[in-house]
Amino acid sequence: MKVLFIGDVVGSVGQEMVREYLPKLKSKYKPQATIVNGENAAGGRGITEKIYKEFLQNGVDAVTMGNHTWDQREIFDFIDDAKKLIRPANYPSSVGVPGKGIAYIKINQQELAVINLHGRVFMGDFEDPFQIGMKLVEEAKKRTPHILIDFHGEATSEKEAMGWYMDGHASAVLGTHTHVQTNDQRILPSGTGYMSDVGMTGFYDGILGMKREAIIKKFLTQLPARFEVPDNGRKKLNGCFIEFDNVTGKTKVIESIRIDDDTPFYD
Ligand SMILES: [Fe+2]
Ligand SMILES: [Fe+2]
Repeated sequence: MKVLFIGDVVGSVGQEMVREYLPKLKSKYKPQATIVNGENAAGGRGITEKIYKEFLQNGVDAVTMGNHTWDQREIFDFIDDAKKLIRPANYPSSVGVPGKGIAYIKINQQELAVINLHGRVFMGDFEDPFQIGMKLVEEAKKRTPHILIDFHGEATSEKEAMGWYMDGHASAVLGTHTHVQTNDQRILPSGTGYMSDVGMTGFYDGILGMKREAIIKKFLTQLPARFEVPDNGRKKLNGCFIEFDNVTGKTKVIESIRIDDDTPFYD
């Protein structure tokens, strides 16, 4: 099973990059499933129903989220009907948090389980992503050997820990949230594909996809600043291609994807 994963899509610039390159990436890698992290798709903050539906129309099979899940108030109106939208699973489970942390994508006779987990290091209070994640993996295993985790976390230590903890259990642990792609993609000894951060898709000449001026000013002055995503400019796409063994679900191939003006796309 071949899967394409696109890192945090930031604003309209990021959406344009998905529209432009998804068909090209699909003809190059021939994935059976495409997943994007959409937590920053609406101007850097959350996602709207319109953007979610556009992703699906453009050939995306599932959209994962993160700490920006709730930034657009309308999410509360559509998340429970959005079958392919997956928010972090490790919110308190007993008090009625809307949405879900796992979804199953049907691919011919097979299924891909997609799980979203939120890190805790430098990120606030959440339930334990390790225990909740393993519980979901065990549950998913009853249905399918193909299980992909988007671990939305800040600290590479926590992400590496998740990768090793899930080695031999999940098919892959792919990190999101930092918006900076790491160069550490590998297959762990028991067959779990791992990458600390897949990176982000959006404005290339900014800081984490935002206009850089306000952010630099904030570092210089320590004054509050408003971060904005530009509407145009040079763009980049960061992602990851991964292939699972059809029977065991173990990772056979993991490759980073990086498209920008300094790293042209070859098909
Ligand atoms: Fe993000
Ligand atoms: Fe994030």
